[in-house]
Amino acid sequence: MERLPFIAGNWKMNKTVGEALDLIRELKTVISGVKEVEVAVAPPFTALDAVRKELEGSSIRLAAQNLYWEEKGAFTGEISPPMLKEVGCHYVIIGHSERRQFFGESDETVNRRINAALAQGLKVIFCIGEILKEREERKTFSLIERQMEGGLKGLSGKEMRDMVIAYEPVWAIGTGKTATPEQAEEVHRFIRGKLERLYSKAVSEEIRIQYGGSVTPDSIKGLMNQPNIDGALVGGASLRAESFSKIVRFKEM
Ligand code: 13P
Repeated sequence: MERLPFIAGNWKMNKTVGEALDLIRELKTVISGVKEVEVAVAPPFTALDAVRKELEGSSIRLAAQNLYWEEKGAFTGEISPPMLKEVGCHYVIIGHSERRQFFGESDETVNRRINAALAQGLKVIFCIGEILKEREERKTFSLIERQMEGGLKGLSGKEMRDMVIAYEPVWAIGTGKTATPEQAEEVHRFIRGKLERLYSKAVSEEIRIQYGGSVTPDSIKGLMNQPNIDGALVGGASLRAESFSKIVRFKEM
């Protein structure tokens, strides 16, 4: 089955509003005319509104990096799904390993966030992945299984159609150590098999699975050649238009 490749840039805690505008203006120019690849950027909350305005008329989609599950109320410092909808977000990243590592996210809180996002019509980029110790102890598959069962708990096959899964091995994030295409493909194939067991063959074949972890213009082609890798969630290399556009234009390499 043909799945539309999906390349997303996770800007993490980078870019002031001014810097975000500079980047998005440049990006619009350098990736104009790219077809048959879906592209999204996830700026920090403070730059979402400005970037949305700059993206008017462009096919680049806007994504947020997190949300809280309540709609409003006394939750100091949090951002709700309707707030993200209002500023034009199409996607939201949920369960990123940095959220799990530094901000105490668990499979349960990830699940609550996913439910809240989908209920408001946001599409979700759901991140999963093992740390180095788990890989070395050969626990990658059991960990992925646990994260999927916990994060996707209670979601219907219909809801899954608004989901993208990002496999991000934590040992490859920001380290310059990309998983080899074969290492990534092995886990992507496992994730698709698990989706089939949890839902159906049709759902498992439809869902896009991105790879994330030190993706660069040099590594993208090999990754995208794998049958179960449908795109990338790019951190560091998405902060410059030159490198991100090369990744988006992987078909031309
Ligand atoms: P890097 O591409 O900087 O390794 O980050 C990957 C990532 O965490 C994307 O969400």
